[in-house]
Amino acid sequence: MKIITSVRKFCYLTESLKRHGKTIGFVPTMGYFHEGHLSLFRRARRENDVVVVSLFVNPAQFGVNEDFKQYPRNRKRDMRLCAQERVDYVFAPSITAMYPEGFQTYVEPGKLASGLCGKSRPGHFRGVATVVAKLFNLAQPTVVYLGQKDYQQCLIIRQLVADFDFQVQIKMCPIVREPSGLALSSRNTYLDEKGKQKALALVKAIRWFQARVKKGERDARLLKNGVRRILFKAGTRVDYVEILAARELSPFRKLSGKILLALAAYVPAGKRGGARNKVRLIDNCVMKIPKGGFI
Ligand code: PAF
Repeated sequence: MKIITSVRKFCYLTESLKRHGKTIGFVPTMGYFHEGHLSLFRRARRENDVVVVSLFVNPAQFGVNEDFKQYPRNRKRDMRLCAQERVDYVFAPSITAMYPEGFQTYVEPGKLASGLCGKSRPGHFRGVATVVAKLFNLAQPTVVYLGQKDYQQCLIIRQLVADFDFQVQIKMCPIVREPSGLALSSRNTYLDEKGKQKALALVKAIRWFQARVKKGERDARLLKNGVRRILFKAGTRVDYVEILAARELSPFRKLSGKILLALAAYVPAGKRGGARNKVRLIDNCVMKIPKGGFI
């Protein structure tokens, strides 16, 4: 496995891979790998000639009061895991390599970024879209693997690919969970045992929602209230609970078609949560509602 930090060298490499007709499976990451990341590396490995992972904690997607400085990092462990998963190249640039002095052009996503995390974290998706556009330019991927936990991010990146004519296929891969049901996230590391127990409210709320919908409930307001109640009772602070059309992220009163339940909640973190002592976690599920029938 080769680690590349220079933008120029990375360009030479990907150009040469392309010239030799290789397919490039690309996984963009911010590091601190867990099984969710590894599942993306494995799929990229199965489906491509060459696997490229980027490791860059992107300052442009963090707000001023967010956890950029505190974001967990462990480069040595990350590199070991990449080697174990037979990743071919890790692109790990510095901040100045990605944003040299004078950098001033940003990608502003449209409507898909206006709600959910886009509303709670102003500027977040502008930072994501900008770095992803740069990474796609450099990596020249054939297929990009993204995790469904960041569902809104996946849709925004798909739209970016369509709008900017990137010749790239985006594959959204399933959420990986702990046996307890907790969705894997690098930010789970902020949680102590008590915090982890409270964080289970997110998956509990999702399971309650899935069961109610399967039984035939279609009233979005009622379902949202039920989900909120579960999160509140567990001692988390709800950031948002939304039930939306899964493709356009538009709201509706009566559920129909392909639907997304998306949640974000602040969970008391314990000592590891830093000064603010709370962790913002997200989770979601997608369901298909057959016309006029039960699931
Ligand atoms: O999902 C992430 O880890 C990041 O948002 C991404 C896509 C690597 C861009 O920095």
